[in-house]
Amino acid sequence: MTDSLLSKRTHNVDQVFSLPSGAKVGLLGWIALKSRVGGLVFLRLRDGTGIIQVTARKNDVSENVWEELLNVKVESAVYVYGTVREDPRALGGKEVKLEQFSVIAPSEKWPITKSAVKSVSFLYDHRHLALRGPKTVAIMKIRSRFLKACFDFFFSKGYCFIQAPLIVQAACEGGATLFPIEYFGKEAYLSQSAQLYEEAAICAFEKVFIVQPAFRAEKSRTSRHLTEFWMVEAEAAFMELDDVMKLQEELLCYVVDHIARECRKELNVLGRKVKDLDPPFPKITYDEALQIAEKKGYPFKWGDDIPTEAERAISKEFDKPFFITKYPVTARSFYHMPDPKDPRKTLSADLMAPEGYGEIATGGQRIHDYDLLYKKIIEFGLNPESMKWYLELRKYGMPPHSGFGIGVERTLRWLLKLKHVRSTVLFPRTPSRVYP
Ligand code: 4AD
Ligand code: MG
Repeated sequence: MTDSLLSKRTHNVDQVFSLPSGAKVGLLGWIALKSRVGGLVFLRLRDGTGIIQVTARKNDVSENVWEELLNVKVESAVYVYGTVREDPRALGGKEVKLEQFSVIAPSEKWPITKSAVKSVSFLYDHRHLALRGPKTVAIMKIRSRFLKACFDFFFSKGYCFIQAPLIVQAACEGGATLFPIEYFGKEAYLSQSAQLYEEAAICAFEKVFIVQPAFRAEKSRTSRHLTEFWMVEAEAAFMELDDVMKLQEELLCYVVDHIARECRKELNVLGRKVKDLDPPFPKITYDEALQIAEKKGYPFKWGDDIPTEAERAISKEFDKPFFITKYPVTARSFYHMPDPKDPRKTLSADLMAPEGYGEIATGGQRIHDYDLLYKKIIEFGLNPESMKWYLELRKYGMPPHSGFGIGVERTLRWLLKLKHVRSTVLFPRTPSRVYP
């Protein structure tokens, strides 16, 4: 038998709720709350799995333990040993009657108190501590499940999980949002999307996906923009626009269903209900979206990107996710395949969340022809030299292919009905925040 710290733990907190009265437990965790009523001290003990009430009675513990209990501050890491008891008044109907107790790592006076929190930015300045709060924990556990479900989905469909560099030389999504970095005397950038590398990979693996960060020097301070965010991207050979929309629909249904089933506890903490989605998702064209926006009083010029206000108004017309298809060439990146029926438009689609949340994914068919791609690179004012390898792929058996990228934070924001995407990130990065 070892007497290591971890060996003192007999159960995790969430296991205690299924133990019978009288069971003995050794727990490790943090004190989330503490109160004293005369000869009783109540603790809320939190570990990585849950929170349970611990009750200490002065008469039942040694004098030393009682002293420690009186002095210990919230957020100290502690060891508790005691007996499980039914208590209908306690959270979850069970509590632990404390018999032994020791402080493993004391905490100073906790700085995040109701009176200290004067603004949201105070909380984000203290994010390294504030992330222990029940809501943040619930959101991050759901995020973790979200990513697991994406992995499960793509593996079940035979996709290969690949990685792409984050230090790159070319813009995938336009020069305006590139983050330059000094790279041994040359200019390089942080990656905006792994798409171009995925396209190289499909000729080896056929179907690939990527889960990694993307960087955008977005100056816009909106509730939907981060400068560092995570994207789940997929790309497949021989796939066309309708196929890639179907793939996104299946992915979103799979992930939402997984979260609805596996994250009940966390959804309860957030007071959110997640319903299964029922496919197919409605599809409207860019032209139809423009008409809706006009009717709602948010007109914009054909050929422009859909402005945020208009996008919100369009999205409010739907109560489940939907696609907007066939964006004009002028509203898309250089690599989008023109529509053979109308070359002013592209074979592209955005996946939109309903109820005003708006775009969560962008995808479509890529140009696989060398000459056409070269022409587009020039038209878009890009440097063909930095795109040389990407162009060259078109000389060596590049079939029609499609893909998409879905934003993890945007999707979670919609699913959990959060005000701002930053609350879905442990340490968010925005134009005004690189600390902590
Ligand atoms: O629409 P975007 O720019 O598309 C691409 O990057 C494609 N190359 C993806 C692909 O086809 N492989 O970005 C994809 C998604 C957006 O729909 C949005 O959900 C998210 O990434 N996104 C952001 N999320 C948070 N903050 C930002 N600044 C974001 N920019 C894009
Ligand atoms: Mg987009």
